[in-house]
Amino acid sequence: MMQDDFRVAIDIGTTKVCTIIARKRPDHRVEVAGISIVPCSGMSKGMVADSAAVTAAIKESVTAAAADAGVEISSVYAGLTGSHVESKNRWANVPRSDGMRAVTDLDISAAKKAAGSMDLADDRRLLHVIPRSYALDGLHGVRNPLGMHTGELHVESHVITGSISKITELHNAVSDAGVRVSSMVVEPLASADAVLTADEREEGAVLIDVGGGTSDIAVYHDGAVVHTAVIPVGGFQFSNDLSIAFAIDFDSAEQLKIEHGTAAPELAGMKEEITLNPTTMNQPLTISKREIGQVLKERTSELFRMIQLKLEEPHLADIPTDRIVFTGGGAKLDGFLNIAKYIFQRKVRLATPRGLDGMPEGTNDPSYSAAAGIALWGMRNLPAENHIGERKSATTSNTSGTVEKAPTGALSMIRGWLPKREKETAGT
Ligand SMILES: Nc1ncnc2c1ncn2[C@@H]1O[C@H](COP(=O)(O)OP(=O)(O)OP(=O)(O)O)[C@@H](O)[C@H]1O
Ligand SMILES: [Mg+2]
Repeated sequence: MMQDDFRVAIDIGTTKVCTIIARKRPDHRVEVAGISIVPCSGMSKGMVADSAAVTAAIKESVTAAAADAGVEISSVYAGLTGSHVESKNRWANVPRSDGMRAVTDLDISAAKKAAGSMDLADDRRLLHVIPRSYALDGLHGVRNPLGMHTGELHVESHVITGSISKITELHNAVSDAGVRVSSMVVEPLASADAVLTADEREEGAVLIDVGGGTSDIAVYHDGAVVHTAVIPVGGFQFSNDLSIAFAIDFDSAEQLKIEHGTAAPELAGMKEEITLNPTTMNQPLTISKREIGQVLKERTSELFRMIQLKLEEPHLADIPTDRIVFTGGGAKLDGFLNIAKYIFQRKVRLATPRGLDGMPEGTNDPSYSAAAGIALWGMRNLPAENHIGERKSATTSNTSGTVEKAPTGALSMIRGWLPKREKETAGT
């Protein structure tokens, strides 16, 4: 009998670790077999800052997800982000025997190899080589050349690299938690896989995952990725601005942002007032929702300016990207889309993960797009390999000898926590 195809994805975000155990069904749909979300304060701007804290959160999340699915986890795909992640598009000649002949599977494999054969600086490692299109005897824009006749074959690819030291730090944080990293998936690609529709990929769209410490960007056109970039700014900086502006601690600022924050203060009523307890005053301070909004609007506009700069690449000039799809917890800020629509003058929407059946209630949320996308990317692009060890029963015995269902990792771990302050103070 064919074994179920299980893949485990871990998104090690700046505010939380999310583990998803995905299973491919015989009808090829992918469903969630187990999930868990554990707060993590060991990352800064998408990179490891406190490896012991990151490892502890990964261990806890992996254990809870494994209990949720009733399996043992042996290997995982880990998401990778941070401003050390860089990308470029490049053309490469595919070496093949002389003469006009049909393009074969071997030529396609050779194309991938040629696309990835490049000199890298000492601290850089190749993460992804994604063929975008082919040129057959100079005729550009061929998506699938298999079986077509040509003398010369060239391939254009999107190539993503990262810093070896940053990759190693993340790799070690995961393996120290007792699981093997079978592959790393760059987070902008993962989030895009989880939220973009086929039309958006085809006609042109910009995906932006606004997380706690980074904003991950991926641009798609003609069904393939054209550009990826990471900006080291996320929801943390928004809360930190409030913490500084109103002299309140970070956790209070985080709560203030989520409960009363808006990026569009002009839409907030003048009369809505909130009382705070600033650390520098010995009496409460009453502020309006509009004042909170002023601070958040400035940070939102600043982030959007940084995104605009990342999109001003020469190779994007002719790409029609009239749609922006936001995901990630930071994009849930009230009024965020209003400002985006105004600044970018494009269609905007806030997306939750799709394509993964059975996401439990509370997890169908923009914060979990990257985790869902890592699982989907792996299922679609990486060779089948089982990430789980021996299956256990999904039930556990209690002391009285009766049998009860193991606690649901997802729901038991999501409730009632606030992301912790990052290690660094904000400088961006
Ligand atoms: N309703 C809300 N309004 C505003 N911000 C929110 C809201 N809900 C969550 N956030 C913010 O979302 C951020 C967390 O988002 P997410 O879970 O996508 O980040 P992450 O994956 O941990 O981080 P990263 O991807 O940057 O490494 C936090 O900064 C949090 O304050
Ligand atoms: Mg994230």
